[in-house]
Amino acid sequence: MIDRILSDERYLEKINRLNEIEKDRIYCKHDLDHFQEVYQMLSILSSRRGLDDSKKLSKIMAYFHDIGRADSYDGNHRKSSSDFARILLGEYGISREEIDLICYAINNHSGRIEVQDAYYYIDNNMVDDSLRDTWAKLLRISDQLSRNCYICKANAICKWLEGEKTNENWKQRIC
Ligand SMILES: [Fe+2]
Ligand SMILES: [Fe+2]
Repeated sequence: MIDRILSDERYLEKINRLNEIEKDRIYCKHDLDHFQEVYQMLSILSSRRGLDDSKKLSKIMAYFHDIGRADSYDGNHRKSSSDFARILLGEYGISREEIDLICYAINNHSGRIEVQDAYYYIDNNMVDDSLRDTWAKLLRISDQLSRNCYICKANAICKWLEGEKTNENWKQRIC
């Protein structure tokens, strides 16, 4: 089902446009590799917490969270991503409840936190007040921690604060 959604020509068209927009980007990109890495991490973290349908929801959130950058690169890509997700997912029979959860997480995925705080949240199996806030936090953390700052060529000029950058131990700690 999800693979059919991700091969929809409208999804592929956005991926192609995003690749074109970012072809000369020196900072980390928002491409299929990024979506796959976010998916892997989000699926580990959400299933560890025992969240229902963790694999399915992780895959959809990860593959849609930045897709709206194709339409709104420097604007509000959370909104353009969730608007597009709402339309496409509805056509493929994803339930209204799931779409609301997915779109809420996408709409709240931006913003970085100190890596130490992210580890604290993970290591202590923290959950937020609501299911949707837990998903949003996990998506945000997966988005940030999936980046490989320690081998990034743009590390020295990146605007991320030092405490927000990932180190080489993150994978051992999470996977
Ligand atoms: Fe994003
Ligand atoms: Fe992202």
